[in-house]
Amino acid sequence: MSEAVNKKKVIFSGIQPTGTFTLGNYIGAVRNWGPLQEEYDCIYSIVDMHALTVKRDPVKFRQQTIESYALLLACGIDPNKSIAFIQSHNPSHAQLNWILACSTQFGELSRMTQFKDKSKKHPDDVNAGLFTYPVLMAADILAYNADLVPIGADQKQHLELARNIAVRFNQRFGDMFTVPEPYIPKVGAKVMSLQEPTKKMSKSDENQNAVILILDDKDTIIRKFKRAVTDSEAVVKYADGKDGINNLITIYSAVTGKSVAEIESEFDGKGYGDFKLAVGETVADHLAPVRDNFARLLADRNYLKECYTEGAQRAFKLSNRVISKAHRKVGFVDYR
Ligand code: TRP
Repeated sequence: MSEAVNKKKVIFSGIQPTGTFTLGNYIGAVRNWGPLQEEYDCIYSIVDMHALTVKRDPVKFRQQTIESYALLLACGIDPNKSIAFIQSHNPSHAQLNWILACSTQFGELSRMTQFKDKSKKHPDDVNAGLFTYPVLMAADILAYNADLVPIGADQKQHLELARNIAVRFNQRFGDMFTVPEPYIPKVGAKVMSLQEPTKKMSKSDENQNAVILILDDKDTIIRKFKRAVTDSEAVVKYADGKDGINNLITIYSAVTGKSVAEIESEFDGKGYGDFKLAVGETVADHLAPVRDNFARLLADRNYLKECYTEGAQRAFKLSNRVISKAHRKVGFVDYR
């Protein structure tokens, strides 16, 4: 009993190995991951199997997977406190995927908006993996009986499906899976595009001046902020209709911890040029440790390999118990 009371909740999150994070991802989500490790048992996976649903060049794909893993550590995930691994290194995900697929309906998967969007985007490659993508995601989460899953709005429908699959399996075979909840971080700032400040900052924006990437160097960051779209009023004040300035104030506030009022008085009587430069320099300094860590980690492939190998072993230990239980529940013959 006391053990159950002391048990920390389990957080699982999957990150696709598709390049770097934006300042928006960082402020809104990534920078909270480090502190979460103290409160929860965190499991983070670079989900290369999910990424395979879109055609990729194998050489680049391998490199991107390693870089994404390094970035995860560079952003403060401690491989001793959390389990950090690469999805394809733990066979449990594929195993549970099959079992859960047999408890998922064709109709449910057909209704997934991401499937519909992606099939339109790649009409020449509507592969079965793309269709069953949400089942694999459910397997990722349920294989660890995760309590909480940090996700953005675009993944809500997939998490809802994972919950439905868990409930259905439990009803059919007897309770075994924890039904996961979304983890909503304490209100994080929403960062908008620097070029069209009514739109969210997105890494796929065609105009790269609109996006700050966390691995951008200092000069690039300052240059992008200098070019940020503002208004003609030239007063650093948070107000309706001043979307560009509001966004810069939000960013500056998020990285310095200063309130809007403090920022307004700091820049009282100064122009937008001074303000943009201050935001650029402050953001660049804030991100510098991530860039340094990333470079250091990537230069030490052996260390990275040790980390992801051990991460996969620890992940397998946990998930394999769940797999064995699921095998018994569905009626597979025990052989060990
Ligand atoms: N589908 C998620 C995304 O594209 C990535 C993902 C895969 C994931 N498995 C997961 C997220 C499990 C949370 C939990 O962002």
